[in-house]
Amino acid sequence: MHHFHYKSGELNCEEVPLSLIAREFGSPFYVYSTATMERHVRVIREAFSELNVLIAYSVKANSNLGVLATLAKLGCGADVVSAGELHRAISAGIPAERIVFSGVGKSKSEIRSALDSGIQQFNVESLEELDTLSSVAVSMNKIAPVALRVNPDVVAGAHPNISTGKSGDKFGVPWAEAPYLYDRVRELPNVISVGIDVHIGSQIGDLPPMKTAFRKTIDLALQLRDKGHEITQIDFGGGLGIPYESGDTPATPAQYAGLIKELVGSLDINVIIEPGRVIVGNAGVLVSQVLYTKEAPDRTFLILDAGMNDLLRPSLYGAHHDMIPLIEPQSSGPTRLYDIVGPICESTDKFATNRKLPTINSGEFLAIMSAGAYGAVLSSQYNSRPLVPEVLVKGTEYSLVRERPSLEQMIAGEGIPQWLN
Ligand code: LLP
Repeated sequence: MHHFHYKSGELNCEEVPLSLIAREFGSPFYVYSTATMERHVRVIREAFSELNVLIAYSVKANSNLGVLATLAKLGCGADVVSAGELHRAISAGIPAERIVFSGVGKSKSEIRSALDSGIQQFNVESLEELDTLSSVAVSMNKIAPVALRVNPDVVAGAHPNISTGKSGDKFGVPWAEAPYLYDRVRELPNVISVGIDVHIGSQIGDLPPMKTAFRKTIDLALQLRDKGHEITQIDFGGGLGIPYESGDTPATPAQYAGLIKELVGSLDINVIIEPGRVIVGNAGVLVSQVLYTKEAPDRTFLILDAGMNDLLRPSLYGAHHDMIPLIEPQSSGPTRLYDIVGPICESTDKFATNRKLPTINSGEFLAIMSAGAYGAVLSSQYNSRPLVPEVLVKGTEYSLVRERPSLEQMIAGEGIPQWLN
């Protein structure tokens, strides 16, 4: 579900024609729909209504301050993986007590920032991290609330690169070691156990792998409780998939919540979830202009002004993104097959191969759909292309929530050593 629709022949984000934004801010640009994010959060909240749930939005999916402030207003917490994400979440108004800190490699200074802010929970992924957390907490005279992220040895996720819950993946503590690490939590000073955490991957469309992982985790939580460990909350991570093309029917938030409710049953436990993509994925598009069309002997290229540096998913994961023109095509109008590429000097700078689209000419614009998650956040300035602007829409209003740096701003932090002067 999203709020990008044709109105009077033009693609709108809510009530704003995208051509208007293109004229004002130039191409390419990302645009996000507030109504879509609001709807997704509402649907998730309603689905979990009988449970005490914290929606800790996974900031890595889209960390724009405008997006985070929108979600803060809706009562979301945050799942962060760096001091930078923590800073963004707090700056956007997400209270520290609704923030969980995930990730396999938290540095001491990141741990210090999180302890200073008073976050809800550290999702700890190794014995050494636990020892470090304890010693930093002692040095600051703070208590660190801990959940161990366990690795349930389950395969899930749309692509091997986004599967994280299999034994051998770098994520989580090995299943068999988890009880010993909880004993260690009890022994160490200034760390206390508050819960358990699991996250098995991303863009998961089917619930069975989640069911296996969640059931194992709940069983382990009960065993740990029996041994006297404090487990008041279970963090089920993120990972719910979204439809990227028509015909995709991933499990819905209602089905996902239904599974968790069924497994949790009458246990007295708080639930944390870390959804990212399912909240923002379909709430954003990348708008790009066709610079050139180019005929090759066996294909026609559309060369866009957006490249893999702006949206990496197709190059990195072979991900599919629908593309539609900003001007509504006639339903019976001509179509063609195109290879849709960017301007970057890499053969992998390709958004789609053999994609059927309404005939399109240079100068026209395309919206690359479902680019709200892992789009702008994964972008780079490769080929010295400044990051593209991001615009947030709400009804008839729109606002620039990240500006396009000038070329001077792009090189501002660099310098020429004095020996070259
Ligand atoms: N929690 C943890 C610990 C995670 O590692 C992730 C995502 C999430 C939550 C949020 O997962 P989501 O609900 O968004 O699926 N760049 C890839 C996705 C990488 C996901 C990394 N971890 C992509 O573009 O598909």
